[in-house]
Amino acid sequence: MHYDPVDPELIADPYPTYAWLRDHDPIHHHDASDGAPPFWALSRFADVWDAVRRPEVFSSAQGLTFYFDEIGQLGLPPNLVMLDPPRQTRLRALIGRGFTPRRVAELEGAIRSFVRSRLAEMAQRASDGEPVDLHRDFSSTIPTHVLAELFGVAEEDRLRFGPWTQALTAIQNDGLRLDPDTFSGDGREAVTEMLGYFSEQISDRRAHPRDDLLGALVAAEMDGPDGSAQRLSDWDILGFCFVVVAGGSDTTASLISHGIALLTDAPDQRQLLLDDPGLLDGALVEFLRLESSVQGLCRTTTCDVTVDGTMIPAGEKVLMLYGSANRDPREFGPTADLLDVRRQIPRHLAFSSGPHFCIGSHLARLQAKIAFQELLSAHPGIVVDTGAGQRHQSAFVRGWVSLPAYGLAG
Ligand code: HEM
Repeated sequence: MHYDPVDPELIADPYPTYAWLRDHDPIHHHDASDGAPPFWALSRFADVWDAVRRPEVFSSAQGLTFYFDEIGQLGLPPNLVMLDPPRQTRLRALIGRGFTPRRVAELEGAIRSFVRSRLAEMAQRASDGEPVDLHRDFSSTIPTHVLAELFGVAEEDRLRFGPWTQALTAIQNDGLRLDPDTFSGDGREAVTEMLGYFSEQISDRRAHPRDDLLGALVAAEMDGPDGSAQRLSDWDILGFCFVVVAGGSDTTASLISHGIALLTDAPDQRQLLLDDPGLLDGALVEFLRLESSVQGLCRTTTCDVTVDGTMIPAGEKVLMLYGSANRDPREFGPTADLLDVRRQIPRHLAFSSGPHFCIGSHLARLQAKIAFQELLSAHPGIVVDTGAGQRHQSAFVRGWVSLPAYGLAG
């Protein structure tokens, strides 16, 4: 079977190909015949799980795509997702001083009132006979609003924030394909503008301390290995802002849209959820397992390494196929491809594992939980037409651009 991670047919439905890879070619080597750089792909749960937990062998420091210099090409600040321990560990600990569970929990009220306002607008559209798009009108608006709230972006600047998240998503769709030339244009401009904006905000917090996330990151301090006080530099904070805006918006939006798409195809599972809202937390993990927003990201080998009897030489790109690992029957049993909102899931890879485990997983789940609580209570019969929807064309991020919705309560 031919495996090409940017083939639109594969992107439409990668799961039969993943099943074939897991069974016949679990340590797949993609040669450079189509002009793209060669890479390897791990598709079984156990292999991906082990690899992402060994950063000394599978490094993130050469970027996460098929190319070697995405940080240089985009002019990005070095950031924790593209660093290895021990530097990444220290940076992450300092960031954790500012980005605390309490700060996330405090967003609940703001998230709920925003979600309700979107639902009221959608209901109005539906009753006016206008088309409703679940992804455009609802799912994608929530993380943008929430991140602006989290960063304390002033009301008058919020209109600029939305286009930045869209441009960064577009980079993931175009720039992270196999053509490095597409790193230019709108995406690069958006990155420059956004980093300029956050630089000003950071200087402002240094001059006028404030109790918002940026203020807390500026103030964060801990003891270094030699006992001296360590703090985050402006560049460290900018790197964090970049990863959060690039990695925290579309992933969360797609979790919400995919969840409704999965429930559209499984009315019995929807009924279970409506009958017992206590199942929602587990159902969100099940949605992420079946439709992982991050399908895969690369690592680079630091030495020759043997995985399941196959030797991968040093200096090669290895794609961690989270989207395949999360459907591996070796881990999840014979029903791995089916939605089961009551499934017990002791471990999964939708947020990765090991040192780079998603630092925003609580915030993502909080947003999705509120979105589902409010959406299913207002419109329990909502369905989407995936055939008429439009997907991102990305090897790395699985998500929607547009997803028409029907069945809203009148
Ligand atoms: C459903 C939504 C989300 C999914 C599926 C997701 C998935 C992931 C994954 C797979 C990684 C590991 C990357 C790697 O393997 O190299 C990651 C890392 C990260 N995520 Fe998320 N993410 C989500 C939402 C968020 C949100 C809302 C935020 C921030 C507010 C966020 C911030 C980060 C950061 C900063 C990292 C880097 C952590 C590190 O390298 O130490 N993510 N995420």
